[in-house]
Amino acid sequence: MTALLPTPKGWPSILLARRGAADPIDFDAAASAGAFEGLRRAIRELGPEGTTAEVEASGLRGRGGAGHRTAAKWRTAAGTPARARYVVANGYGADPGSGTDRTLLETDPYAVVEGVAIAAFAIGAEEAFICVRSTATEAVGRLQAAVDEAASRNFIGDDALGSRLRIEIEVRPVQGAYMLGEETVLLKALDGKRGQPEQRPPHPATRGFRNAPTVIQNVQTLATVPWILRNGAMAFAAIGAADAPGTVLVDVRGAAKSGVAEVPFGTSLRDITTLGGVPRAPRVVKAVVVGGPTGGILPPSALDTAYTFEALRAAGKIDESVESFLHAGGKNVKAVQEALWAEYGARTIGVMADGARVLARIWQGAWNAGNGNAIAAGKLKSIAPSQLKDYYNDVTFVESFYLDDIIGKLV
Ligand SMILES: Cc1cc2nc3c(=O)[nH]c(=O)nc-3n(C[C@H](O)[C@H](O)[C@H](O)COP(=O)(O)O)c2cc1C
Repeated sequence: MTALLPTPKGWPSILLARRGAADPIDFDAAASAGAFEGLRRAIRELGPEGTTAEVEASGLRGRGGAGHRTAAKWRTAAGTPARARYVVANGYGADPGSGTDRTLLETDPYAVVEGVAIAAFAIGAEEAFICVRSTATEAVGRLQAAVDEAASRNFIGDDALGSRLRIEIEVRPVQGAYMLGEETVLLKALDGKRGQPEQRPPHPATRGFRNAPTVIQNVQTLATVPWILRNGAMAFAAIGAADAPGTVLVDVRGAAKSGVAEVPFGTSLRDITTLGGVPRAPRVVKAVVVGGPTGGILPPSALDTAYTFEALRAAGKIDESVESFLHAGGKNVKAVQEALWAEYGARTIGVMADGARVLARIWQGAWNAGNGNAIAAGKLKSIAPSQLKDYYNDVTFVESFYLDDIIGKLV
């Protein structure tokens, strides 16, 4: 398992509250820490609409990248007339090298299973899937054990908690390229189809898996829901930032210590890099990469940016970038960028969204400057940084595959 970084005393612990448990799939230990109390409250006390209303009041937003409001997705799926509805937990963890989702799945598989069951109950889904990278064997094994245990105790299955409702949960190991984490691709793969992205709308909440309304959400998002139902929406809303309540897992790299930490939204990038042992002194950090391959390379002046969806977006992290991933680079921004461009030239790029525009600009610039041969040979790195700078002058973010590999070589 990825190392867990210690966080300051008094920081809230929701997703990793069970860190250090001797056996994460020991049901009795999980139950004494509150596992399945949230589902019980949903089914016995709140009902589907009341459950959604509680999640809405908590202000929970998706941890998968864009920060969509969780309850809004649930309402759309529940309100779309259909014979079947589905819940899909996105535990693919697309960012190369990022261990956040895997860490959660290994640390508290019951929270993920319970969150999925609550979402299924809220939208009226009988079948749900938890998609996990197949190479994350420990996570797959623990999740499967947690699903089996929950089913054998009647929390899920044919008559979940005596509700006469059927909530089946299936663990699906999946494997593919980076794009597999994107929701429309993952839904196709789940259905045995070729994994190609689809234009949205329609969004999966109205037309997703098997053309039925589907709530697809990051595992961190879903694993937060039991805590909200157990402790109440107001307790959750009081944690983190006003427009982004709660906590998120961040993978901190490139500093003295690497590992995953649970941080309240609103924490500054400076405080997060400090968890990795980066000295707080100015001028040490030359660049911070936030959001993994589709994220942004931010200058040191951005270190005081609060870790919230909108603040990071304004600072240059793009929407839909996947797991929270923070990398403090000790070398200069230009060196990091140069390596990224080299990577563009060396690999086939799966282009999506704004990536196409950015790539087109860089490539066109390099081509115009007479570097067409270097591009074709995948040797963008051979071009002098001073020249490269001309083409990416106005590019504030980048996309690349295998970012971790490259940056790992740089710092
Ligand atoms: C290229 C690409 C890769 C993505 N990979 C992931 C991923 O690995 N895990 C994830 O939860 N979301 C990923 N997303 C975002 C999903 O499409 C989707 O928005 C997310 O699962 C919704 O969950 P949320 O509502 O909890 O944020 C990716 C998006 C893109 C564009």
